[in-house]
Amino acid sequence: MQNLDLASEDETRALGARLATLLQRGDVVALHGDLGAGKTTLVRGLIQSILGPATEVPSPTYALVQMYEGPSFPLWHFDLYRIEQAGDLQELGWDDTPGGVALIEWPQRAGAHLPENRLDVFLQNSGEGRRARLEARGEGWQERLDELFV
Ligand SMILES: Nc1ncnc2c1ncn2[C@@H]1O[C@H](COP(=O)(O)OP(=O)(O)OP(=O)(O)O)[C@@H](O)[C@H]1O
Ligand SMILES: [Mg+2]
Repeated sequence: MQNLDLASEDETRALGARLATLLQRGDVVALHGDLGAGKTTLVRGLIQSILGPATEVPSPTYALVQMYEGPSFPLWHFDLYRIEQAGDLQELGWDDTPGGVALIEWPQRAGAHLPENRLDVFLQNSGEGRRARLEARGEGWQERLDELFV
């Protein structure tokens, strides 16, 4: 487990960029936190660090998913806030995501479809800023976090 203070939006984006350096095909990153906690901001920093700062990373609030073609693997950015039932995930291409990386806002809405092996990121308000907690679940993630936060 890793706790981090994020004093500004830039620090949230920078954490995303830092996590991007760890990512491998098949990874799942679940982003927990209330409305406005900074989930999309973190994903924006992550994707722009891979694809460049000019890449637009909208919140997939209505589309529910946005796909990005990375140099090594595709990335899917899900926002499941408005999904009606977990059964609708198939229509969003959920089954393709092991071929790349899945970044998931409102992951609890995926129910039993959420993979057990994943990185959980919890974001919450803290004064004017945010606090992040990273929790490794399953094979390999803890070792990778340890490399990042030596
Ligand atoms: N560390 C931070 N300190 C202060 N403000 C921040 C920080 N990180 C992000 N923000 C701000 O929080 C606001 C909401 O961020 P964001 O849209 O990423 O939230 P979200 O968790 O994706 O919300 P939603 O659940 O609605 O999708 C943005 O205005 C962003 O600039
Ligand atoms: Mg969001």
